[in-house]
Amino acid sequence: MFSPCLSVNEQGHLSISGCDTLELAHTYGTPLYVMSEDEIRRVCRCYVQSFQTYYHGNGRPIYASKAFDCMEIVRIVLSEGLDIEVVSGGELYTALKAGAPGCRIHFQGNNKTLSELELALTHEVGDIVVDNPGELDQLQTLARAMGKTAHISLRITPGIEAHTHDFIRTGQIDSKFGTDLQSGAALALVERALEMDHVVLQGLHCHIGSQILETEPFVHAAQVMLDFYGEIVQKHSDFTLSWLNLGGGFGIHYTKKDRVLPYETYMEAVSAAISEKCTALGLPIPRVFLEPGRSVVGEAGITLYTVGNIKEIPGVRNYVAIDGGMFENPRYALYRSDYTCLIADRAGEAADYIATVAGKCCESGDLIQEHTRIQTPHRGDVLAVLSTGAYNYSMASNYNRNPRPAVVLVSHGEHRLAVRRETYDDLIRCDL
Ligand SMILES: Cc1ncc(COP(=O)(O)O)c(C=O)c1O
Repeated sequence: MFSPCLSVNEQGHLSISGCDTLELAHTYGTPLYVMSEDEIRRVCRCYVQSFQTYYHGNGRPIYASKAFDCMEIVRIVLSEGLDIEVVSGGELYTALKAGAPGCRIHFQGNNKTLSELELALTHEVGDIVVDNPGELDQLQTLARAMGKTAHISLRITPGIEAHTHDFIRTGQIDSKFGTDLQSGAALALVERALEMDHVVLQGLHCHIGSQILETEPFVHAAQVMLDFYGEIVQKHSDFTLSWLNLGGGFGIHYTKKDRVLPYETYMEAVSAAISEKCTALGLPIPRVFLEPGRSVVGEAGITLYTVGNIKEIPGVRNYVAIDGGMFENPRYALYRSDYTCLIADRAGEAADYIATVAGKCCESGDLIQEHTRIQTPHRGDVLAVLSTGAYNYSMASNYNRNPRPAVVLVSHGEHRLAVRRETYDDLIRCDL
């Protein structure tokens, strides 16, 4: 078990934060998202502490709520001292309803709508991360009309390639996100922002990818962004950068193959690079933000299913069908993502059965994992998929009119519902 919240109990069952997964499945039904509050808090504290240890507390982590968004998770990360990053009006609304003050919200997105920007200005969001010139103009016009001042960062595309899956690589020039550095577009955007009377430019932002398992790309990104800061100051000597946001992207364990760095390593590596660069360029040291999503919740989450049909095709493969699928975990269908699966009833036994775990949606590609080793399955067993805390619930849909599963939080042997299971009535709620 690679996550500290997981173990095998005396009955040989998979246990999470002291809760028997078979009991959870029995109490709440399956499919079921289970999130360890203990593990989420442990990771939050690790990030917060890394700012104290390596950067004199001069900055903070921001939770990228897209990874897993519901009010209770927002409350937990807020209480641990993290800010909240949102990327849509819906995520912004959730954060506000969960009690996040506007000043602790960072609003991202490559194409925010006018009504989303209006919501952000109304609630005095402390950091609107402007993606491009069109958005900057729109924000200035809107802020003026509303008699508000927008506090902004600019999302820069630094041209750094992180070693990760193409679809989730965002720092390179060919990206729908941000304004490009190399072409001079980013400098032009800064100059335009500095001329505006309803916009205050405070930060620079970049995000170079996701599931990154090394520190070098982050160090390189920090250096490139500070060189850019130096370039701005050369032309505008009165400009001071209040904060530098280096994005998220820190990798987690999906399988034993993943070589995961302790999360404090990122701040350690980045802080040294920032001090060195600022000294070399004669720049004041900015506050730093990191924006982790996956690493805060990913390993804290597992999904529980009930095994249904088992179809063994000799010489081909063994399909093990579960009562979930791509509607509640679309990541294998989208990215061929690796996962570790196991039979929770016999978690301590050898995993010597090769299974293709298939969902119940009407798609051949509706798979959770192919040719993976699990304990020999039987109809009615509970099958657990590990490290599903990030980008599962948040990417879930109602495909084939499947209700979205409930979310249960577990902590020190106790469990409670954070999101109730959808009903069939929920599915037709908006139908006219
Ligand atoms: C701008 C931004 N910040 C933070 C994140 C969080 O990344 P991760 O969940 O990999 O830490 C993302 C993810 O796509 C992002 O686009």
